[in-house]
Amino acid sequence: MACSRWSLIITAVAAVGCSLFLSDASRAVGGPPGDWDSIPPQVQIIDQRTFNVLHTVPPPTEADGNAQFIPPGTTKESLAARPFHIYDKEFLDIIGPHPTLTLLAHTDSDPLFHEAPVWYPGKDEMFFVQNAGAKAAGTGLAKSAIIQKISLSAVTPAVASQRDARGSVKVEVVDSNPMVVNPNGAINYKGQLLFLGEGQGDKTAPAMYLMNPEAPYNTTVILDNFFGRQFNSLNDASINPRNGEIYFTDPTYGYVQDFRPPPGLPNQVWRFNEATGAVAIAADGFNMPNGITFSPDGSHVYVADTGMIQGFFGNNFTFPSTIYRFDVNEDGTLDNRRTFAYVTPGVPDGLHVDTKGNVYAGCGDGVQVYNPSGKLLGKIYVGSTSANFQFAGKGRMVVLAETELYYATLAAEGAFPGKLY
Ligand SMILES: *[C@@H]1O[C@H](CO)[C@@H](O)[C@H](O)[C@H]1NC(C)=O
Ligand SMILES: *[C@@H]1O[C@H](CO)[C@@H](O)[C@H](O)[C@H]1NC(C)=O
Repeated sequence: MACSRWSLIITAVAAVGCSLFLSDASRAVGGPPGDWDSIPPQVQIIDQRTFNVLHTVPPPTEADGNAQFIPPGTTKESLAARPFHIYDKEFLDIIGPHPTLTLLAHTDSDPLFHEAPVWYPGKDEMFFVQNAGAKAAGTGLAKSAIIQKISLSAVTPAVASQRDARGSVKVEVVDSNPMVVNPNGAINYKGQLLFLGEGQGDKTAPAMYLMNPEAPYNTTVILDNFFGRQFNSLNDASINPRNGEIYFTDPTYGYVQDFRPPPGLPNQVWRFNEATGAVAIAADGFNMPNGITFSPDGSHVYVADTGMIQGFFGNNFTFPSTIYRFDVNEDGTLDNRRTFAYVTPGVPDGLHVDTKGNVYAGCGDGVQVYNPSGKLLGKIYVGSTSANFQFAGKGRMVVLAETELYYATLAAEGAFPGKLY
């Protein structure tokens, strides 16, 4: 970013220059309220140097991989009051001069806003699904998680300008037919919505369903086995923009969340060529492969590993909470697995990229944003787990946070949402 209006604003607040953006930012972080008047109302700087030395650092039994870290000089309330957290000046280009975050809906305990956010540009609607494995939802074995949608045209600028706009937007249930059983992931595919279902018990195999994005929401299963063997519990997918193949992850969450039998396949990443029918391994060596997304030019693929969360085995904080990056060869094979980012709190779950190649991850405190080198740029902070989120073209994003549904405006543009392939 050039020395612009932005750096002038920040300079006025934190007495910093363009090249030393965060110097003395600690004053801004904890500074007197008057200092904040010229910073956009929903933005704050988090200066990591203010907590490199804490003097008293709690043991792992207290500060574990799920613990929400409250930097000195902040509170949970102050972090939420200005939810766009700048860790690096590159984040300014992503959020733009006036980002907003709006609560659209809330439930007391039912995790209705969990996963599979997918934008249907035809009607400007965002679809998403309930948590299939959460006890509070009663889903999984007893009944399937549901698909829902909201109309984004209902989120007017007047709605988006509010922090709490509950009740402004109708959340509608989508009755897929035949039903997508325990959906967890979704992407745009050939004008349809492609859902990944985790399956149910040992009779209903995990499957990939194409769903008509308009009523009657009829579905067609396009894959439900590997040479006659059930997948474990299909989780998420992304299209390789160079060859159009569907790359998808298959961890064992259905089993460790009590609605699928013990797994019969390794935890791995697969690829599916719908035209030829070929299903093949893309990569293994994962604990719980989860979110997956290609870079905008298709040269890399990012895969999240949420191994830290082991369902009924509990959490194991020595297991991955990690995003890996591979090179994607011309023939679609994956090479050069590289450790891209390790996140806290929680795990990196849903992954998406913007048109510049920055990587967004749904994590334990909201959406964390990394540049293509794996540097943390900033966060859209919700103070609790966001398993996934999705761009709706340029400048708009829906953030799912289990019992909360948020809408964000920012400057960045999603790389793939709405791309039909
Ligand atoms: C939905 O039904 C229509 C009409 O029969 C059909 O053309 C279309 O392929 C179906 N879509 C899916 C995803 O099953
Ligand atoms: C975590 O996993 C390691 C390696 O398998 C194991 O030794 C350890 O006991 C596990 N910890 C917990 C808390 O389950």
